[in-house]
Amino acid sequence: MQTIKRYVEENKQRFLDELLELLRFPSVSADPSYKEDVLNTADYVARKLTEAGAENVEICPTAGYPIVYGEKIIDPLKPTVLVYGHYDVQPADPLELWKTPPFEPTIRDEKIFARGACDDKGQFYMHVKAFELMVNSDSLPCNIKFMIEGEEEVGSSNLGIFVRANRERLKSDVVLISDTSMISLENPSLETGLRGLSYLEVEVTGPNRDLHSGVYGGAVANPATVLCQLIASLHDANNHIAIPHFYDDVLSLSEQERNSLNEAPYDEDEFKNDLGVKSLWGEQGYSTIERTGIRPTLEVNGIWGGYIGEGAKTVLPSKASAKISMRLVPNQQSDKITQLFKDHFESIAPDYVRVKVTPHHGGEPVVTPTDSVAYKAAEKAIEESFSKKPIPTRGGGSIPIVALFEAELGIKTVLMGFGLDSDNLHSPNEKFDIANYYKGIETIPLFHKYFAELSMEQN
Ligand code: BES
Ligand code: MN
Ligand code: MN
Repeated sequence: MQTIKRYVEENKQRFLDELLELLRFPSVSADPSYKEDVLNTADYVARKLTEAGAENVEICPTAGYPIVYGEKIIDPLKPTVLVYGHYDVQPADPLELWKTPPFEPTIRDEKIFARGACDDKGQFYMHVKAFELMVNSDSLPCNIKFMIEGEEEVGSSNLGIFVRANRERLKSDVVLISDTSMISLENPSLETGLRGLSYLEVEVTGPNRDLHSGVYGGAVANPATVLCQLIASLHDANNHIAIPHFYDDVLSLSEQERNSLNEAPYDEDEFKNDLGVKSLWGEQGYSTIERTGIRPTLEVNGIWGGYIGEGAKTVLPSKASAKISMRLVPNQQSDKITQLFKDHFESIAPDYVRVKVTPHHGGEPVVTPTDSVAYKAAEKAIEESFSKKPIPTRGGGSIPIVALFEAELGIKTVLMGFGLDSDNLHSPNEKFDIANYYKGIETIPLFHKYFAELSMEQN
C-alpha cells in the first residue's frame, strides 16, 4: 500500500494532465461528424497503453469504431484479468446548459467537468495508470489484457463479432470493469447486477400531409395526441407496465434479499432535493432502491411531432414519434420484450392512425456473483483502501457486453465502479471527483494483488 500511495503521490499531476488530454477528444460515437476525433482517441489510447508498458497493442478495426487491445503476459500459469472500458462518449447537447465547454475539461471544487469525465474515460484511464504503476514498481501480480472499445454508447453492435473472432486472445479468468457508480467515498459499494435494455422507436401517422389545424382540426385525429394517449396507456394506475406478459419472466427476490438491498444508505430528502422534485414516482409496492435496481421500467427518451420552432404555427401534424426504452431485469430477454412491445403497441392503435415500431439495440440483464474469488478480491481491495467494506448494490444502468462476455467466453465480471450517481452521466456538466480518480488508481493494484493471491490459494 505504501508503494502504491507513494507512486500516486509522485505522479499525481501527470495522471491528471493525461486524463485532461484524453477528455479533450470529442469522441462522440453517435454523431458521424466526430468520426476523425473518435479515431484519434483510439490512437491516443493505444499510445498511452504502450507507454504504460502494454505489449502487442493493436487498434483492431471493426465495421464501426476500432477496439484498442493491449496485454502484458508475465506468466501463462498466473491468472489473467481482462479490463474492459470504452473511449467513446455520449453527445454533449444541450450545449447551452454546460457551465464550461464539454470538451475543454475544467476543474472546479476538486472535480473534473467534461463529457466522459466519469463515463467512461476517467474510469478506464484509472486502469491504464494503475497498470503503469504496477509495471514500474515491478508489482504486476497477474496477466492483464485491455480491451477498450469505441461503440459502447451506441450499443456495441460490432463487439460480439470481435469477441467471437478473438476467443483465444481474450481468454481470461475474470473481466474487470470500472463503468458504474458507488454510493460515496464514505460508503463504498460494488454493483452486483445491471439491467438489460430494449430500445425502440415508434411513429404514429395520421393524415397523409400536415394540415391547417383550423380547417381540419376536430374532424381528423391528431397523431401527436394519439401518440400521447398510447404512451400514457403503457402504465396503469399503480405504475405497473401495462403490456400483457411483460412481467412473465421477471425473477422476484426473496424477502431477505429485498431487505438487505434496502439496507444500503439512502436519504430520500437528499435524493429529491438534488433533483428538484417535490415527490417521487414509481411502481407501487417497491422502494426507490428497488425501482431503480431490481424492477423493470419503461421510459420515453424523446418525443416529437408537429411544429417546434420559434413562435406559433397552427398545424395538425401528419406524424408524431417517440423513442422508448425499457430496462430489463433477470430473467427477461431483450428480443422477447421488444416483440411484446411491438405486438401490443400495434394492437392498441386506433384505426384512424397507423403505427410503425422500429427496434434499435438491446442488451441482456446480468447478476454478477458475490461468492467468487474475483468479488472477494474487489471487496478486500476496497476495504483496504477505503477502510470500509463495500456494500453490494444493484445498478440501474446497462452494460450489454457483460452478458455477452459471459455467454461467449464464459467469463464473469466484477463491476468495480468509482463514479457517483450524481456525476451527471449523459447530462450537461458531467464530472468526476479528482479524489475518486486517485482512489481508483490506488485500489486497482490491490484488486490485482488479492485476485492473484486468492486464485493461487484456491488452486
Ligand atoms: N456506464 C454506463 C452504464 C452505467 C452507468 C451503469 C451508471 C451503471 C451505473 C454506460 O456507458 C451506458 O450509458 N450504458 C447505456 C446502455 C448502452 C447500450 C447505450 C445505458 O445504460 O443507457
Ligand atoms: Mn459507460
Ligand atoms: Mn454511458
